[in-house]
Amino acid sequence: MVLVTGGAGFIGGNFILDWFDIGPSKQLANLDAITYAGNLATLESIHNNPNYKFYLGNITDKTLVTKILSKVKPRAIINFAAESHVDRSILGPTEFIQTNIVGTFNLLECAREYWNYLEEPKKSEFRFLQVSTDEVYGTIGPNDPPFTEKHPYEPNSPYSASKAASDHLARAWFHTYGLPVLTTNCSNNYGPYHFPEKLIPLCILNALNGKPLPIYGDGQQVRDWLFVKDHCSAIRTVLEKGQLGETYNIGGWNEKANIDVVKQICAILDELRPKSDGKSYAEQITFVKDRPGHDRRYAIDASKIERELGWKPVETFETGIRKTVQWYLDNPKWVEGVVSGSYRQWIVQQYA
Ligand code: NAD
Ligand code: TYD
Repeated sequence: MVLVTGGAGFIGGNFILDWFDIGPSKQLANLDAITYAGNLATLESIHNNPNYKFYLGNITDKTLVTKILSKVKPRAIINFAAESHVDRSILGPTEFIQTNIVGTFNLLECAREYWNYLEEPKKSEFRFLQVSTDEVYGTIGPNDPPFTEKHPYEPNSPYSASKAASDHLARAWFHTYGLPVLTTNCSNNYGPYHFPEKLIPLCILNALNGKPLPIYGDGQQVRDWLFVKDHCSAIRTVLEKGQLGETYNIGGWNEKANIDVVKQICAILDELRPKSDGKSYAEQITFVKDRPGHDRRYAIDASKIERELGWKPVETFETGIRKTVQWYLDNPKWVEGVVSGSYRQWIVQQYA
């Protein structure tokens, strides 16, 4: 039994679906507040699985988290729950401080209390896995080496600053209290069930709906893209084999400029769903005002996790992005459910 937080979001949702695909008899509990980014439709296929238990609630709620821990008695907590969108953090950072910092603090405290009372061998086997991002490292220039785990934390957005703070708390709970903490810092994910406020799903859906594909600034910002299922397999690897107190960078060795990502999406759509007028989706690309404090380049050196734990991504960007576009074409019901919600208001506010 593991307890996942934020399991109705993009990565947590994929993690849970894979968990039951790989081991149908394994148990998992999911604590999620179902914010705008939480979508229980993602988990429809396992909703009635007797090995799955969903708890609606907030990671900042000490009474609730304590109750859940004593009830489900997990061997690990995997903390995905977060406010995760940089643009939202710029418009309103309060929730980012609450969930990412106060929420992680609360989880660590509840985990510490629970773990203190565990008996051996359960005590030694327990893990707290903090799921984090490469954005805590800040930005690098075009010729700089990619981020290693030793790169200083230099966060530039309210989102990355709040994630950096939560990582520091997790680190301190290991060093001060001995809580068995593991931390992963992953690059940009993409794949099925991605909420369409992020670049890749937004552009796939806007393209299909004849809307502009908004590129911030000159579109030359570089991100290191990882297919979400590879991230999930890396987390399972770190959970099983990671050294306590260590951090592991996770990345796909797939650095791409934003404009090239969007052009590639357009080319795949031109092939899979050609427009009736024969034009390319690339004609919908529109350059818009840049994001304030926009980090120019993220790049992950994922050699530590490969060397020490034997994990490597399976997908290249070419295979992963094709699967992703195909998934959005094949799942209009999931997409419709998302776009009819608060996403609409957000899009109006963001792109007015
Ligand atoms: P997401 O925004 O899609 O999902 C977040 C989930 O957390 C949602 O289900 C939401 O309802 C839930 N949640 C939010 N606040 C909560 C609270 N206070 N209590 C309980 N649940 C709450 O995020 P994601 O893209 O799936 O990211 C998951 C984790 O991975 C985050 O910690 C993020 O920082 C990290 N990460 C994301 C990426 C990426 O590219 N998306 C890359 C690296 C790391
Ligand atoms: P995003 O998907 O928001 O992830 P992050 O900010 O966490 O990297 O953005 C990925 C990149 O795409 C980032 O450089 C910002 C850029 N971007 C656009 O150019 N247009 C958009 O509409 C969005 C949402 C992002």
